[in-house]
Amino acid sequence: MNLQDASLFRQHNLISGEWVGADSGATMDVDNPSTLSVVGRVPNCGTAETERAISAAEICFKTFKKTTAADRGALLERWFELIMDAQYDLATIMTVEQGKPFSEAKGEVAYAASFVKWFAEEGKRVYGETIPSPAQDRRILVQKQPVGVCAIITPWNFPAAMITRKIAPALAAGCPVVIKPSEFTPFTALALGVLAERAGFPPGAVNILTGDPAGVGSALTRNPVVRKLSFTGSTRVGKMLMEQCAGTMKRLSLELGGNAPFIVFDDADLDLAVAGVMASKFRNGGQTCVCANRIYVQSGVYDAFAKKLASIVRDLKLGDGFDEGVEMGPMINEAAIAKIKTHLDDATAKGGKILVGGDPDPAGPRFITPAVVTDASADMLVAAEETFGPVAPLFKFEDEQEAVDAANATPFGLAAYFYTNDLTRTFRVSEDLEVGMIGINVGGFATEVAPFGGIKESGLGREGAHYGIDEYLEIKTMHIGGIV
Ligand code: SIN
Repeated sequence: MNLQDASLFRQHNLISGEWVGADSGATMDVDNPSTLSVVGRVPNCGTAETERAISAAEICFKTFKKTTAADRGALLERWFELIMDAQYDLATIMTVEQGKPFSEAKGEVAYAASFVKWFAEEGKRVYGETIPSPAQDRRILVQKQPVGVCAIITPWNFPAAMITRKIAPALAAGCPVVIKPSEFTPFTALALGVLAERAGFPPGAVNILTGDPAGVGSALTRNPVVRKLSFTGSTRVGKMLMEQCAGTMKRLSLELGGNAPFIVFDDADLDLAVAGVMASKFRNGGQTCVCANRIYVQSGVYDAFAKKLASIVRDLKLGDGFDEGVEMGPMINEAAIAKIKTHLDDATAKGGKILVGGDPDPAGPRFITPAVVTDASADMLVAAEETFGPVAPLFKFEDEQEAVDAANATPFGLAAYFYTNDLTRTFRVSEDLEVGMIGINVGGFATEVAPFGGIKESGLGREGAHYGIDEYLEIKTMHIGGIV
C-alpha cells in the first residue's frame, strides 16, 4: 500500500490507549476483494479482550462525562482536521480492503469527516428544559446526560462513515465507545483510531476491537456496563443483538436492511430518473442499505426507460478501484456473488429478461457485470429480498395506488425514491410510503445535516442531524421543592 503516512496502517487493536494483539496471539487475515491478496492481519479477540475494553471505557467515563461540550468539541474538531489531512491515505486503505473506486472512497472519507465536524458543534446544543410546575413551591428541570459506555458494531460497506456517524455524537455527548468494525474492513477503522488518539481523546474513550463477530458481539451485548448499542447491518443480526441486549435493557440504535422501491411515474423527467437510478442503485456496486432494490416504472414510459437505463449500465467501467476511470469495484466476498447469481437465476426462471449484464468479469472472481432485468414480478427473490449488488429489476405498473401498494409490500422501511413533476402527487405518495427517508427527484441523500434511519424491520433510531445526538443522551428530571 502506497501510504503517505505508513503509521496509519495498524495490525493491532486499540484498548485503553494501548495498541495490542489478542491474548492468544490469534489473528485473522483481511483480503483485497479485487486482487484476493492478503492485505494484512488483525487480532482475533474474544470475550476477555472485549471486557477489558469495556472496563477501560467505564474508567474513562468517570472523567470524560465531566468535560465540557466545548472541550469535547475541540477534540472532535481536531480529529476532523486530521481525518481530512489523511483523506488520501484513508481512502487508499478503504479501496484496498473494501474495493470501492478510489474517488468514491475519498468521497466517503469526506462524508465520514462531516459527521465529526457536525457533532463537534451539536454537542454544545444539548439543551435541557424547565417545566411549569403544578405546585407553587416547586420547580421542574430537565437535564440531558450521556448514556454511558456505548458498543458500536459497524459494517463493511462504509468502513469510515458508519463509524463516525455513530461515535462522533457519542463522544460529543460524553460517552466512551467500544467499536467492533467488520472483519472485512478493519484497517480503515484502526486508522481512524490512530487519528483519534492523535487528536487527544483520553485513553479508553475510543477502543477498537477486531475478532469473531459472535464472540465480541455477545460480550458487548451481555455486559451491564454497556448502556447503549448502535449497530448497522442486517435485520437478522439486528434482531439477534436486540434479543441479547434485552437482559440488560440497553438503549438501541439499529440501522438495518432495506428493500428500497424506486418509482418512476409517467410524468417524470426520464433522464433525471435514469441518473437517479444510477446514483442510487450502483453506488458502491449496489452494496448499500438505501440502494434502489425494486424499480417500478409506469407502463407509458417503461420501454423507453429500460432502453435508456440499459445503454448507460452497459458502459459502466468495472475494475480495481485504483484503475483510471473505474466506476464500480468488486463485491465484498463470494457469498455476495452467489446471492446475486441466485437472484438473477430466479428472475429468469420466473419470466424476467436480462437486458444487460449479470456476467462474470475478467477483472476477477468477485466481479459481476451490472445488470438490468425487465419483466420483474412480485413473486421473484429480487422483490422480496435486498440483492445488495448491481442488479436493477424493472417492474411495470399502471396507476399510482398500485405502485404505492407494491412499494409498501415488504417488512422493510428504510428508503424510497420516486420521480414525478406533479406537486400534489409528491405529497400524497410521500405520506403513504412506509419508510424513514424519501428521495423525490433525487437518487441520493447522504448528508450529515438530515436524519438517517428506517421504520418497520429496517430499525430503530436516527443518525446524523440534531436527532443523532439524542440517541446517546438520557433525560433526567429534577423536582425541586420548598421554594417559598
Ligand atoms: C448504508 O447503506 O447503510 C449507508 C448509506 C449512506 O449513509 O448513505
